[in-house]
Amino acid sequence: MKPFSELIKRRQSTRAYIDKPVEREKILQCIEAARLAPSAYNQQPWNFVVVDDPQLKEQVAESTASLGMNKFAFQAPVLVVVVLDKEHVMSSLGGLVKDKNFCDYDVGMAVNQFCLQAAELDLDTCIMGWFKEEKIKKLLQVDKKRRIALMISLGYSEVPVREKKRKPLEEMSSWNAYRKQK
Ligand SMILES: Cc1cc2nc3c(=O)[nH]c(=O)nc-3n(C[C@H](O)[C@H](O)[C@H](O)COP(=O)(O)O)c2cc1C
Repeated sequence: MKPFSELIKRRQSTRAYIDKPVEREKILQCIEAARLAPSAYNQQPWNFVVVDDPQLKEQVAESTASLGMNKFAFQAPVLVVVVLDKEHVMSSLGGLVKDKNFCDYDVGMAVNQFCLQAAELDLDTCIMGWFKEEKIKKLLQVDKKRRIALMISLGYSEVPVREKKRKPLEEMSSWNAYRKQK
């Protein structure tokens, strides 16, 4: 098993996949990792829809790739659509009072756990926030009042692991007082 410090470097947004199907048990392992994520009031406001049927996947990819974005969705053997399930009343209320959308944070954490589990299995992912929501809702029979939070492409990578491009540590953290970024 990879140590966590390696795993977070191994996970990257992969936009090129080889033509190899992903084993269902590995997909289930990724979903299990997402299932164990924390959430406000433990409301678990996520629902992961795995799209691996080739015809349907092609249609979902069509709803994801536009204006030059997300063309790799056609190549990925699996697309996972994360539906935002009914909000828990306590979380909605708490979010309203605190002016925060807890559901979005929750889904982000679950999606990251999914991606890190994939990385441990030497699978690659790309989180996608750019897609035609209404089209995907129709394709997957998601009812009107639900939202689609994110999508994840999943497959075996065609590209090596690269260095992360990130702000330096001292620019994004401080001790005992907030230090404004230059
Ligand atoms: C909420 C969210 C939405 C994203 N949407 C897209 C997307 O639609 N298309 C894409 O190619 N990458 C997307 N990304 C990937 C980011 O571009 C990527 O995480 C960032 O550049 C850092 O690179 P890394 O993931 O390889 O470390 C998204 C990432 C997040 C967290």
